Amino acid sequence: MGLSKTIFANPTEYLVREEPADPVLFFAPMVLQATAKRFLDGFPGLVTYAVKANPDEMVIANLAAAGIRGYDVASVYEIEMIRRVAPGAAMHYNNPVRSKAEIARAVELGVQSFSVDSHSELAKLGALVPAGAEISVRFKLPVKGAAYDFGAKFGATAEKATALLAEAAALGFVPSLTFHPGTQCTDPAAWDSYIRTAATIAADAGVKIARLNVGGGFPAHRLTEIAPALEGIFGLIDRVTTEAFGEDRPALVCEPGRGLVAESYSLATQVRAIRDDEHVFINDGVYGGLAELPLIGIIDRIEVRDGAGNRRTGAPRGRIVFGPTCDSVDRLPGELGLPADMDEGDFILFHGLGAYSTATVTRFNGFGNFQIVTVMALQG
Ligand SMILES: Cc1ncc(COP(=O)(O)O)c(C=O)c1O
Repeated sequence: MGLSKTIFANPTEYLVREEPADPVLFFAPMVLQATAKRFLDGFPGLVTYAVKANPDEMVIANLAAAGIRGYDVASVYEIEMIRRVAPGAAMHYNNPVRSKAEIARAVELGVQSFSVDSHSELAKLGALVPAGAEISVRFKLPVKGAAYDFGAKFGATAEKATALLAEAAALGFVPSLTFHPGTQCTDPAAWDSYIRTAATIAADAGVKIARLNVGGGFPAHRLTEIAPALEGIFGLIDRVTTEAFGEDRPALVCEPGRGLVAESYSLATQVRAIRDDEHVFINDGVYGGLAELPLIGIIDRIEVRDGAGNRRTGAPRGRIVFGPTCDSVDRLPGELGLPADMDEGDFILFHGLGAYSTATVTRFNGFGNFQIVTVMALQG
């Protein structure tokens, strides 16, 4: 993946001047910093960033500049990178399964907060992490509202979480709770259920928790008609935490990935062919920056421009869109409404593509040679 050194005014200026043959991800630091400010102003607790969503060092540097002081890290690689790019920031090692070597290295690098969802992993932490560190027990609920079910892989049942919380406190750790309602969670009721269950778990364990981490899951703007109501979710989290915990209200932490970074990137792909006026083939697909679409659905926040930068304004026509590889599953879900006057060589820009895009690009079939270009603004 290459990185251009020049800062362009907007994607169109770059596309017209450079005529790139490969997909381009446009990054607007100002949009990222504005989103960070929205979280910092609105969330009633500590805002941390889930590095996995987009580990680009420019992203971390801009978040740090905007005032983000904590990071959810999932691997030793991410821990070392945060130490280098945002020295002094808090790190929460919230991948609940780690090898002994990884735990030892994290301790060495100063990590003082770990999540856990099983007795076997708590035993490992008990042996390797000094007492006084924070252990956050991760629990799960069968609630809906997210794009897909996160509980299938991680999270203890409420009953098991109660036992783990009591055990962590008895081992001399600072006891906390954490959950993740599932990514792109558009239903605030999910946070309501999770927070009330957290209070029940703490009461049943007889433990006053220090912090409640309400996860990532904050939705990004994917469909034109549905703008995420972040402030409404922040308000609900604040109110329900007080209602559920009363005097024992814990400090709150959130760890958004998508909600923080998605809006600050747009992806430009080029139309390689419109086969017999039917299927559209573009130069990126599900093995590249659009990997997530089959999992969580299409993004309809698109614009199409011709080679001179003019916006196509033809009536939208539903099209099946394929990526560039020879693989049949390399197809975007459903149909995409594309202007009827679109032509081969045009650029299709997908907005809101900063999360789980750069991080998961492959070089399958020789594609995936991305540029990341910094722009002042993503529109225009
Ligand atoms: C522990 C943890 N926290 C936060 C996140 C970020 O989630 P999102 O991008 O939905 O905000 C993830 C994503 O997988 C996660 O596993």
